[in-house]
Amino acid sequence: MAKPRVIVTRKWPAEVEAELKANYDVQLNERDIAMTADALQDALRTADALLPTVTDPITADVLSAEPLRAKFIGNFGVGYNNIDIDAAKARGITVTNTPDVLTDCTADLAMTLLLSAARSAGEGERHVRSRSWTGWRPTHMIGAKVTGQTLGLIGMGRIACAVAERAHFGFGMTILFSDPYPPPVEVTARLNAKECTTEKLLKDADFVSLHCPGGAETFHLIDTAELKLMKPGAILINSARGDVVNNEALISALRNGEIAAAGLDVFEGEPHINDGFLDLENVVLLPHLGSATHSTRIAMGKRVLQNLNAYLAGKTPRDKLV
Ligand code: DGY
Repeated sequence: MAKPRVIVTRKWPAEVEAELKANYDVQLNERDIAMTADALQDALRTADALLPTVTDPITADVLSAEPLRAKFIGNFGVGYNNIDIDAAKARGITVTNTPDVLTDCTADLAMTLLLSAARSAGEGERHVRSRSWTGWRPTHMIGAKVTGQTLGLIGMGRIACAVAERAHFGFGMTILFSDPYPPPVEVTARLNAKECTTEKLLKDADFVSLHCPGGAETFHLIDTAELKLMKPGAILINSARGDVVNNEALISALRNGEIAAAGLDVFEGEPHINDGFLDLENVVLLPHLGSATHSTRIAMGKRVLQNLNAYLAGKTPRDKLV
Protein backbone atom coordinates (compact mmCIF):
# COMPACT_ATOMS: atom_id res chain seq x y z
CA MET A 1 0.00 0.00 0.00
CA ALA A 2 1.29 3.50 -0.85
CA LYS A 3 2.56 5.49 2.10
CA PRO A 4 0.57 8.63 3.00
CA ARG A 5 1.91 11.77 1.32
CA VAL A 6 2.98 14.32 3.95
CA ILE A 7 4.36 17.84 3.39
CA VAL A 8 6.42 19.52 6.12
CA THR A 9 6.75 23.28 5.74
CA ARG A 10 10.04 23.94 7.63
CA LYS A 11 13.15 22.03 8.61
CA TRP A 12 12.48 19.83 11.66
CA PRO A 13 14.93 18.18 14.11
CA ALA A 14 16.87 15.39 12.35
CA GLU A 15 15.52 12.72 14.72
CA VAL A 16 11.93 13.49 13.75
CA GLU A 17 12.72 13.92 10.07
CA ALA A 18 14.21 10.37 10.14
CA GLU A 19 10.89 9.08 11.49
CA LEU A 20 9.02 11.01 8.80
CA LYS A 21 11.21 9.52 6.06
CA ALA A 22 10.75 5.99 7.40
CA ASN A 23 6.96 6.10 7.64
CA TYR A 24 5.62 8.46 4.99
CA ASP A 25 6.09 9.62 1.45
CA VAL A 26 7.39 12.89 2.82
CA GLN A 27 8.41 16.21 1.30
CA LEU A 28 10.83 17.91 3.70
CA ASN A 29 12.06 21.50 3.51
CA GLU A 30 15.85 21.09 3.53
CA ARG A 31 16.44 24.77 2.68
CA ASP A 32 14.13 25.89 5.50
CA ILE A 33 12.65 28.77 3.52
CA ALA A 34 9.02 29.61 4.35
CA MET A 35 6.56 28.34 1.73
CA THR A 36 4.46 30.81 -0.26
CA ALA A 37 0.67 30.86 -0.03
CA ASP A 38 0.55 29.23 -3.48
CA ALA A 39 2.89 26.44 -2.36
CA LEU A 40 0.81 25.86 0.80
CA GLN A 41 -2.35 25.67 -1.28
CA ASP A 42 -0.68 23.28 -3.68
CA ALA A 43 0.33 21.13 -0.70
CA LEU A 44 -3.32 20.88 0.32
CA ARG A 45 -4.16 19.69 -3.21
CA THR A 46 -1.40 17.10 -3.48
CA ALA A 47 -0.70 15.69 0.01
CA ASP A 48 -2.73 13.76 2.58
CA ALA A 49 -1.39 15.86 5.45
CA LEU A 50 0.21 19.28 5.83
CA LEU A 51 2.49 19.93 8.82
CA PRO A 52 2.91 23.71 9.14
CA THR A 53 4.13 26.00 11.91
CA VAL A 54 3.76 29.57 13.17
CA THR A 55 5.46 31.05 10.07
CA ASP A 56 2.84 29.58 7.71
CA PRO A 57 -0.41 31.56 7.45
CA ILE A 58 -3.03 28.92 6.67
CA THR A 59 -5.69 31.45 5.71
CA ALA A 60 -9.24 30.90 4.45
CA ASP A 61 -7.86 31.61 0.98
CA VAL A 62 -5.16 28.91 1.30
CA LEU A 63 -7.82 26.56 2.68
CA SER A 64 -10.04 27.15 -0.35
CA ALA A 65 -7.77 24.80 -2.36
CA GLU A 66 -9.60 22.68 -4.96
CA PRO A 67 -9.62 19.77 -5.16
CA LEU A 68 -8.77 19.38 -1.49
CA ARG A 69 -6.77 16.25 -0.72
CA ALA A 70 -5.23 17.05 2.69
CA LYS A 71 -7.79 16.54 5.43
CA PHE A 72 -5.22 16.78 8.23
CA ILE A 73 -3.18 19.79 9.37
CA GLY A 74 -0.77 19.04 12.22
CA ASN A 75 0.59 22.33 13.51
CA PHE A 76 4.12 22.23 14.94
CA GLY A 77 3.44 24.53 17.90
CA VAL A 78 0.93 25.04 20.67
CA GLY A 79 -0.27 28.39 19.34
CA TYR A 80 -2.41 28.06 16.22
CA ASN A 81 -3.29 31.65 15.38
CA ASN A 82 -1.55 31.03 12.02
CA ILE A 83 -4.49 28.82 11.02
CA ASP A 84 -8.02 29.98 10.22
CA ILE A 85 -9.65 27.32 12.37
CA ASP A 86 -13.23 28.13 11.30
CA ALA A 87 -12.31 27.85 7.62
CA ALA A 88 -10.52 24.53 8.28
CA LYS A 89 -13.55 23.21 10.14
CA ALA A 90 -15.85 24.29 7.32
CA ARG A 91 -13.72 22.24 4.92
CA GLY A 92 -13.80 19.19 7.17
CA ILE A 93 -10.07 19.36 7.94
CA THR A 94 -8.80 17.96 11.25
CA VAL A 95 -6.36 20.40 12.91
CA THR A 96 -4.06 19.55 15.84
CA ASN A 97 -1.41 21.42 17.87
CA THR A 98 1.34 20.44 20.35
CA PRO A 99 0.41 21.44 23.93
CA ASP A 100 2.20 20.34 27.14
CA VAL A 101 5.58 19.40 25.68
CA LEU A 102 6.81 23.00 25.46
CA THR A 103 5.30 24.33 28.68
CA ASP A 104 8.46 24.21 30.82
CA CYS A 105 10.80 25.62 28.20
CA THR A 106 8.47 28.48 27.33
CA ALA A 107 8.00 29.30 31.02
CA ASP A 108 11.80 29.23 31.46
CA LEU A 109 12.09 31.70 28.59
CA ALA A 110 9.46 34.01 30.10
CA MET A 111 11.52 34.04 33.32
CA THR A 112 14.66 34.71 31.27
CA LEU A 113 12.98 37.78 29.79
CA LEU A 114 11.65 38.89 33.16
CA LEU A 115 15.03 38.64 34.88
CA SER A 116 16.91 40.12 31.93
CA ALA A 117 14.57 43.09 31.60
CA ALA A 118 14.55 43.71 35.37
CA ARG A 119 18.33 43.59 35.75
CA SER A 120 19.31 45.32 32.48
CA ALA A 121 21.02 42.17 31.23
CA GLY A 122 20.73 43.15 27.55
CA GLU A 123 21.98 46.67 28.13
CA GLY A 124 24.75 45.42 30.40
CA GLU A 125 25.91 42.88 27.86
CA ARG A 126 26.02 45.50 25.12
CA HIS A 127 27.94 47.77 27.50
CA VAL A 128 30.62 45.13 28.14
CA ARG A 129 30.89 44.07 24.49
CA SER A 130 31.34 47.65 23.31
CA ARG A 131 34.20 48.06 25.85
CA SER A 132 32.30 50.97 27.44
CA TRP A 133 32.46 49.53 30.96
CA THR A 134 34.82 51.50 33.20
CA GLY A 135 34.31 49.48 36.40
CA TRP A 136 31.97 48.89 39.33
CA ARG A 137 30.10 51.91 40.67
CA PRO A 138 27.36 52.06 43.34
CA THR A 139 25.03 53.87 40.96
CA HIS A 140 25.77 52.03 37.74
CA MET A 141 22.98 50.29 35.80
CA ILE A 142 20.54 49.95 38.66
CA GLY A 143 17.75 47.52 37.86
CA ALA A 144 14.51 46.38 39.50
CA LYS A 145 14.37 43.81 42.30
CA VAL A 146 12.52 40.64 41.32
CA THR A 147 12.38 38.66 44.57
CA GLY A 148 9.23 39.34 46.56
CA GLN A 149 7.58 41.54 43.91
CA THR A 150 4.11 41.13 42.39
CA LEU A 151 3.71 39.31 39.08
CA GLY A 152 0.50 39.71 37.08
CA LEU A 153 -0.29 37.00 34.53
CA ILE A 154 -2.77 37.84 31.77
CA GLY A 155 -4.03 34.45 30.65
CA MET A 156 -3.63 31.61 33.15
CA GLY A 157 -3.17 28.53 30.99
CA ARG A 158 -0.48 25.87 31.26
CA ILE A 159 2.48 28.13 30.46
CA ALA A 160 1.32 30.93 32.78
CA CYS A 161 0.88 28.42 35.63
CA ALA A 162 4.43 27.16 35.01
CA VAL A 163 5.70 30.76 35.14
CA ALA A 164 3.76 31.30 38.38
CA GLU A 165 5.34 28.15 39.82
CA ARG A 166 8.84 29.47 39.11
CA ALA A 167 8.06 33.01 40.25
CA HIS A 168 6.21 32.04 43.43
CA PHE A 169 8.34 29.17 44.71
CA GLY A 170 11.65 30.34 43.24
CA PHE A 171 11.42 34.10 43.76
CA GLY A 172 8.77 34.50 46.47
CA MET A 173 6.61 36.57 44.14
CA THR A 174 2.94 37.34 44.77
CA ILE A 175 0.85 36.13 41.84
CA LEU A 176 -2.18 37.89 40.36
CA PHE A 177 -3.97 36.62 37.28
CA SER A 178 -6.83 37.42 34.94
CA ASP A 179 -8.37 34.93 32.54
CA PRO A 180 -11.90 34.50 31.17
CA TYR A 181 -11.37 30.72 31.49
CA PRO A 182 -9.47 30.31 34.77
CA PRO A 183 -7.82 27.01 35.73
CA PRO A 184 -9.26 24.85 38.55
CA VAL A 185 -9.10 26.46 42.00
CA GLU A 186 -6.73 23.71 43.29
CA VAL A 187 -4.14 24.85 40.74
CA THR A 188 -4.27 28.53 41.65
CA ALA A 189 -4.63 27.87 45.40
CA ARG A 190 -1.32 25.95 45.41
CA LEU A 191 0.37 28.98 43.86
CA ASN A 192 -1.49 31.33 46.19
CA ALA A 193 -2.51 33.11 42.96
CA LYS A 194 -5.31 35.68 43.23
CA GLU A 195 -7.76 36.24 40.39
CA CYS A 196 -8.62 39.85 39.58
CA THR A 197 -9.68 42.04 36.66
CA THR A 198 -7.09 42.83 34.02
CA GLU A 199 -7.44 46.50 35.01
CA LYS A 200 -6.56 45.82 38.66
CA LEU A 201 -3.73 43.53 37.64
CA LEU A 202 -2.22 46.22 35.41
CA LYS A 203 -2.46 48.77 38.25
CA ASP A 204 -1.03 46.51 40.97
CA ALA A 205 1.64 44.35 39.34
CA ASP A 206 5.35 45.15 39.25
CA PHE A 207 5.73 42.70 36.37
CA VAL A 208 3.03 41.86 33.81
CA SER A 209 3.51 38.72 31.73
CA LEU A 210 1.25 37.91 28.77
CA HIS A 211 0.06 34.35 28.17
CA CYS A 212 -3.00 34.71 25.96
CA PRO A 213 -3.44 33.37 22.44
CA GLY A 214 -2.97 35.78 19.55
CA GLY A 215 -5.63 36.46 16.94
CA ALA A 216 -8.77 38.57 16.82
CA GLU A 217 -9.88 38.01 20.43
CA THR A 218 -6.69 39.32 21.99
CA PHE A 219 -5.55 41.77 19.27
CA HIS A 220 -3.92 44.82 20.96
CA LEU A 221 -5.20 43.75 24.36
CA ILE A 222 -2.32 45.86 25.64
CA ASP A 223 -2.59 49.29 24.03
CA THR A 224 -1.95 52.89 25.13
CA ALA A 225 -4.73 52.90 27.77
CA GLU A 226 -3.57 49.62 29.34
CA LEU A 227 0.08 50.73 29.39
CA LYS A 228 -0.99 53.93 31.15
CA LEU A 229 -2.59 51.85 33.92
CA MET A 230 0.74 50.16 34.68
CA LYS A 231 3.06 51.46 37.41
CA PRO A 232 5.85 53.75 36.15
CA GLY A 233 8.40 51.19 37.35
CA ALA A 234 6.55 48.19 35.90
CA ILE A 235 7.95 45.73 33.38
CA LEU A 236 6.00 44.04 30.56
CA ILE A 237 6.90 40.55 29.32
CA ASN A 238 5.48 39.05 26.12
CA SER A 239 6.29 35.47 25.21
CA ALA A 240 2.80 34.80 23.79
CA ARG A 241 2.01 36.43 20.45
CA GLY A 242 3.20 39.78 19.08
CA ASP A 243 -0.19 41.16 18.14
CA VAL A 244 -1.43 41.01 21.75
CA VAL A 245 0.52 44.26 22.23
CA ASN A 246 0.26 47.41 20.13
CA ASN A 247 4.00 47.66 19.43
CA GLU A 248 3.84 51.42 18.57
CA ALA A 249 2.13 52.13 21.89
CA LEU A 250 4.72 50.05 23.76
CA ILE A 251 7.63 51.85 22.08
CA SER A 252 6.12 55.18 23.09
CA ALA A 253 5.56 54.02 26.72
CA LEU A 254 9.16 52.73 26.93
CA ARG A 255 10.58 55.87 25.37
CA ASN A 256 8.60 58.20 27.66
CA GLY A 257 9.34 56.22 30.81
CA GLU A 258 5.66 55.38 31.34
CA ILE A 259 6.82 51.84 32.14
CA ALA A 260 10.37 50.88 33.09
CA ALA A 261 11.20 48.09 30.67
CA ALA A 262 9.94 45.22 28.52
CA GLY A 263 11.08 41.76 27.52
CA LEU A 264 9.78 40.50 24.18
CA ASP A 265 10.11 37.14 22.45
CA VAL A 266 7.34 37.85 19.91
CA PHE A 267 6.48 40.81 17.69
CA GLU A 268 3.66 42.16 15.59
CA GLY A 269 4.43 41.15 12.00
CA GLU A 270 7.53 39.14 13.00
CA PRO A 271 10.22 38.57 11.83
CA HIS A 272 9.95 42.27 10.96
CA ILE A 273 10.90 44.27 14.04
CA ASN A 274 9.61 47.82 14.47
CA ASP A 275 12.70 50.09 14.21
CA GLY A 276 11.51 51.95 17.30
CA PHE A 277 12.59 49.05 19.52
CA LEU A 278 16.14 48.94 18.21
CA ASP A 279 17.59 52.02 19.87
CA LEU A 280 15.81 51.55 23.20
CA GLU A 281 18.09 50.23 25.96
CA ASN A 282 15.15 49.27 28.21
CA VAL A 283 13.80 46.46 26.06
CA VAL A 284 15.15 42.92 25.75
CA LEU A 285 14.47 41.48 22.28
CA LEU A 286 14.61 37.75 21.51
CA PRO A 287 13.78 35.96 18.23
CA HIS A 288 10.77 33.80 19.27
CA LEU A 289 12.85 31.32 21.28
CA GLY A 290 10.16 30.14 23.72
CA SER A 291 10.26 26.46 22.83
CA ALA A 292 13.78 26.47 21.37
CA THR A 293 15.57 23.64 23.15
CA HIS A 294 16.65 20.44 21.44
CA SER A 295 14.54 18.05 23.51
CA THR A 296 11.46 20.26 23.30
CA ARG A 297 11.60 20.66 19.53
CA ILE A 298 11.97 16.87 19.18
CA ALA A 299 9.02 16.36 21.53
CA MET A 300 6.94 18.83 19.50
CA GLY A 301 7.71 16.97 16.27
CA LYS A 302 6.89 13.61 17.85
CA ARG A 303 3.64 15.00 19.18
CA VAL A 304 2.65 16.11 15.65
CA LEU A 305 3.38 12.57 14.43
CA GLN A 306 1.36 10.98 17.25
CA ASN A 307 -1.58 13.12 16.18
CA LEU A 308 -1.05 12.30 12.50
CA ASN A 309 -0.79 8.56 13.19
CA ALA A 310 -3.97 8.61 15.26
CA TYR A 311 -5.77 10.45 12.47
CA LEU A 312 -4.51 8.03 9.81
CA ALA A 313 -5.62 5.10 12.00
CA GLY A 314 -9.15 6.53 12.10
CA LYS A 315 -8.85 7.55 15.77
CA THR A 316 -9.37 10.98 17.35
CA PRO A 317 -5.97 12.66 17.77
CA ARG A 318 -5.34 13.68 21.40
CA ASP A 319 -4.70 17.32 20.42
CA LYS A 320 -7.59 17.72 17.97
CA LEU A 321 -8.71 21.36 17.81
CA VAL A 322 -11.40 20.85 15.14
C1 DGY B 1 4.24 27.84 19.87
O1 DGY B 1 4.38 26.63 20.01
O2 DGY B 1 3.13 28.38 19.87
C2 DGY B 1 5.46 28.63 19.65
O3 DGY B 1 5.22 30.00 19.84
C3 DGY B 1 5.97 28.41 18.24
O4 DGY B 1 4.92 28.55 17.38
